Amino acid sequence: MSGQENSLVNSTTRTQAPTPQQDSRLDYSAGTAFVEECYVPIRKACLPLLDWGFLRSDATYDVVHVWKGRFFRLQDHLDRFERSVTKLRLTLPYARDDIGRILCHCVRLSGLRDAYVEMICTRGVAPFGSRDPRQCRNRFFAFAIPFVWIVDPERQQRGINLTVSSVVRIPPQSVDPTVKNYHWGDFTRGLFEAFGRGGDTVVLVDLEGNVSEGPGFNVFAVIKAEVVTPGHTVLQGITQRTMQELCTEIGIPCRAATISPAELSQAEEVFLSSTAGGVMPATRVNGQPIGDGNPGPVTLQLRDRYWRRHEEGWHGTPIDYD
Ligand SMILES: Cc1ncc(COP(=O)(O)O)c(C=O)c1O
Repeated sequence: MSGQENSLVNSTTRTQAPTPQQDSRLDYSAGTAFVEECYVPIRKACLPLLDWGFLRSDATYDVVHVWKGRFFRLQDHLDRFERSVTKLRLTLPYARDDIGRILCHCVRLSGLRDAYVEMICTRGVAPFGSRDPRQCRNRFFAFAIPFVWIVDPERQQRGINLTVSSVVRIPPQSVDPTVKNYHWGDFTRGLFEAFGRGGDTVVLVDLEGNVSEGPGFNVFAVIKAEVVTPGHTVLQGITQRTMQELCTEIGIPCRAATISPAELSQAEEVFLSSTAGGVMPATRVNGQPIGDGNPGPVTLQLRDRYWRRHEEGWHGTPIDYD
């Protein structure tokens, strides 16, 4: 190995974001990815196989959505992404403004008005034989695809059946849950368990057996007319924060609190929050109805307000499609 290969390449030097180039022969309409400094149609996007992001889940990411041509809370997502990058001792190869421009360009190229936009920072490829993460050159990837619904609007009418799993969410002592991560082995195990029990999706428990989070969402319960959501062993969701703000607007108390599986089953209402779908009612927990088995009034009020505030441009960053 040459001295140069052996040197610590994880420097803080930032490169200039490449000038957007588009191949007019390619179809970007199903989505666009930014890979190895090029914009490519999503189906053509490939990862370098030896990147530790793929081999070891050594990566962080964030997802922001676009609704009717506007990013929702873009700066908050960039803030969380930068915090995650720092906590993992990664270094982004581009400045924040350039990352914003790359995301914008992915959306613009695909022409999507409603989109799911992901930014990723991976550890990168180590010199041959090295196990030293400091020797990896960290990489940045991004993509925009059509908006993703964890629960689609039609299914939201009747609400979903949420299964409380026996699987424990990877504990904060092992992986910091405030760093958005790809350690989803526990969620996948929980999902198979949930499907086997007739559930639509799953929420895992923490080491104490209390409700934690699900694959891509935070959980809320309305208990004694108060909105509560687990706050410690989970990702601090941007939609979760939005729910707290909307509760303040409409004068409903909302706070982070421990919820036991029994409390969840007996709650007046249960709903999920995520960038991928907003506010989604769970009308059954472990197959048993919550309240009268229909989406509850607080859930519906929050969901209506969430989408209405989008229409008004609240926390919105317009995209220039020209
Ligand atoms: C594990 C986990 N919890 C919660 C959430 C919800 O976060 P947000 O509202 O920022 O999308 C996500 C989003 O993907 C997630 O992956």
